[in-house]
Amino acid sequence: MPAKNVLKGEECNLSWPLMQNNILREDLTAVIQFLSDATPILTQSKNVRSFEEEWSAWLGVKYSVFVNSGASANLLTITALREVYGLGEIIVPPLTWVSDIASVLQCGFTPVFVDINPRTLGMDTEQVIAKITPRTKAVFLTHALGYNALDQRLLGELQGRNIPLIEDVCESYGGTFRGQKLGTFGLVSNFSFYYAHHMSTIEGGMISTRDRSLYEMFRMLRSHGMVREATCEELKCSYRQKYPDLNPEFIFAFPAYNVRPTEISAVIGRSQLRRLDQNNKVRAENLRLFLENLDAARYQTDFETEGSCNYALTLVLKNPDPLLCANAMKALREHGVEFRRGTAGGGNQLRQPYLRSIIGEQASKKYPNVDHVHFYGFYIGNYPGLDKEKILYLCSILNELPGESV
Ligand SMILES: Cc1ncc(COP(=O)(O)O)c(C=O)c1O
Repeated sequence: MPAKNVLKGEECNLSWPLMQNNILREDLTAVIQFLSDATPILTQSKNVRSFEEEWSAWLGVKYSVFVNSGASANLLTITALREVYGLGEIIVPPLTWVSDIASVLQCGFTPVFVDINPRTLGMDTEQVIAKITPRTKAVFLTHALGYNALDQRLLGELQGRNIPLIEDVCESYGGTFRGQKLGTFGLVSNFSFYYAHHMSTIEGGMISTRDRSLYEMFRMLRSHGMVREATCEELKCSYRQKYPDLNPEFIFAFPAYNVRPTEISAVIGRSQLRRLDQNNKVRAENLRLFLENLDAARYQTDFETEGSCNYALTLVLKNPDPLLCANAMKALREHGVEFRRGTAGGGNQLRQPYLRSIIGEQASKKYPNVDHVHFYGFYIGNYPGLDKEKILYLCSILNELPGESV
């Protein structure tokens, strides 16, 4: 265990926010350079297209569509599922962001919930398989807080039954399963460039897919459902021929949205993407250091870190211990360490008002692993500039906290 005085000044304020310097001067310089053009186009244009291509190349998929947030990526993805497969059930985790479940509800699907595997924070594979029915239209999994939620059994089962897999990689991009990037296994994958994530475009999100017709649909859905947004001439031509009474510039194929990004966001994204891999390497080292130095009697340290890529350090109590929980929060506050309780999505979504009214007051209790994280789990910022000494110091503080179980 590291000595308590690894940082000079003993009981110091660690000034440790959830995120730091996620938009650097070099990103802003790129924006200033872009704005210096005599007549810069600020609405969705060439930089958006270039960012999408660069993102696809980085990820290893064919097509990507940049949108104004990760939540918009979720919404367009589920909207497209409804168009292609029709309504039914979608299996989702209760430990995710609100938009993963809201998009399912907003599009008219029935969400079906399963508990998590505590070591990955992703859905438990056996429970997912057990919940598949003839009405299942998709499995919409979340790679939570950087941990890979996939395994071979799940992939094989979904493939065998022809059930589309949708990956939410908003919290985990750069993570891998068997050396292959998360977000390349599913039919569609979603990403978020919100400030607190691995990279930031101020606000922004990405939808990636290897399916050409879905790609065309996402392009249209992003922009009012307009057919002219498609890249495929044949597709556009077929609409023009079918609807000769319509102005070809204004054919609306779907009742859709406007979730277009701006060129400024794309310029920042292109600048950020260049350092993503290096940043992620440092983040992975930070998480390893944190988990290796936490007391395994007090805290969960057996997360499946292989291929993980976190923007946050996960602090989950080993046992349901209200005293240790209260002491941990007090210690974090006293040492200036910002944290969130219940993981990135705030914990068990089934406890939230928007779901309670639909699924009932008691439904949340059927998912004890999610509930444990809800009440006894936290996340703490993990960014490239984070001082490793601070990590060791914080571990030494946390490891001495008294609780009922230790
Ligand atoms: C798993 C997950 N999905 C979707 C989102 C939504 O992304 P955004 O905040 O960019 O709308 C988030 C946001 O934090 C998230 O954590």
